[in-house]
Amino acid sequence: MSDLEDPHQPAFTVHLNGSGAPIKGWVVVDTLVDGLAMGGTRMTTAVSEEEVAGLARDMTEKFTLAGLRIGGAKAGIVATDTNADGANREQTFRTFGRTVKPLLHGGIHLGIDMGVTPADRAVFFDEAGYDPRYRLGAPDMPIDWRTYYEPLIDCTGHGVGVAALTALEAGGRTEPAKVAIQGFGAVGRAVARFLEERGHVIVAVADVQGTISADRLPVADLVAITDEFGRIDHSRLPQHVTVSRESDAWLDVDADLLVLAAQKYALNAENAHRLRARVVVEGANLASSAEAKEKVAAQGTVLVPGVIANIGGAGSAALAVTRVVPFDLGAEARKQWVFDWVADRVRLNTRDLLEIAAARPGNPLPELLAARRQELHR
Ligand SMILES: NC(=O)c1ccc[n+]([C@@H]2O[C@H](COP(=O)([O-])OP(=O)(O)OC[C@H]3O[C@@H](n4cnc5c(N)ncnc54)[C@H](O)[C@@H]3O)[C@@H](O)[C@H]2O)c1
Repeated sequence: MSDLEDPHQPAFTVHLNGSGAPIKGWVVVDTLVDGLAMGGTRMTTAVSEEEVAGLARDMTEKFTLAGLRIGGAKAGIVATDTNADGANREQTFRTFGRTVKPLLHGGIHLGIDMGVTPADRAVFFDEAGYDPRYRLGAPDMPIDWRTYYEPLIDCTGHGVGVAALTALEAGGRTEPAKVAIQGFGAVGRAVARFLEERGHVIVAVADVQGTISADRLPVADLVAITDEFGRIDHSRLPQHVTVSRESDAWLDVDADLLVLAAQKYALNAENAHRLRARVVVEGANLASSAEAKEKVAAQGTVLVPGVIANIGGAGSAALAVTRVVPFDLGAEARKQWVFDWVADRVRLNTRDLLEIAAARPGNPLPELLAARRQELHR
């Protein structure tokens, strides 16, 4: 079988026990393309091999759909009471760096994901002596990773916004849409700004504390009172907004479009019946469960999955690892190039997915994935 086909087993799974000190975790390489794979590293108390494998599979699907010649991978480290704080945290990432050193140098690029910060990444890259600018057989990157990647923080939200516009347009909508956004972190805030700038009306945003709604929420004012973790300061809310602390109240809002930009399985079998929006876009990974997707489709609601909509972060990293980015462009032009590249892929995939969905019953994603796999073969 070719390495671009769809194996149901990962190419390989590495169990991490630590080098020099103990850690517990996994690196799952779901697929390899030209000997390359990449994905983020997450550190949570509950992370499991199964979760890491599911996320690595998701990465494969994202890159296949985006037409990028790189396989999907993911790493997970189990956080404990002692390994995640202060000096112990640095030790954890030094141990991680020593343990995954042969993988990093062997074409498995590991970035950041939930629970892992850019500072943690700097520690494990340093311990492994790994700099993604240099790889045997590939041209050097002329700029360092942070110079490339940090200006692209809003790229995921940009792509999610493009998916939303494409789905609204495909539904024949010409009026401004009423939009609810679950999650007001890096992704949720960028989507809110993107859609407001294009004339849509944000009627609800939710963070971990609850749902804030109004006929028209002032996005810039809300962004100004939100911290780096996406927590909105409720003591400084604008006037004339309603706050609900009821669980998942973002589902009950009268909205045309719902963007899911918070946690896994936010939309699930238990709450899907409350959904009012006719278009749902997943900004988060695995934002809706399989049962919820079925229920939503049965209602005639359009759902654009995260593997299509939220490729901005992973896709822009992969564009650099595979050296597709025109690095000779100046900083602003390079950023625009990456944003446009992501927008084009998201638009194309969203349109094609909706076309398949309109033509045949059932989940349209496997057919689209098969078509994109064939294109990568050519
Ligand atoms: N940042 C990226 O480029 C990127 C790319 C792809 C996927 N993702 C995924 O998208 C999701 C959002 O990413 P982010 O970077 O914006 O995260 P973030 O941590 O910056 O923000 C998360 C937001 O979700 C809110 N939230 C958490 N639990 C909630 C709940 N139960 N109900 C309502 N709100 C809740 C938080 O309060 C916060 O506002 C994450 O799952 C992330 O893994 C992020």
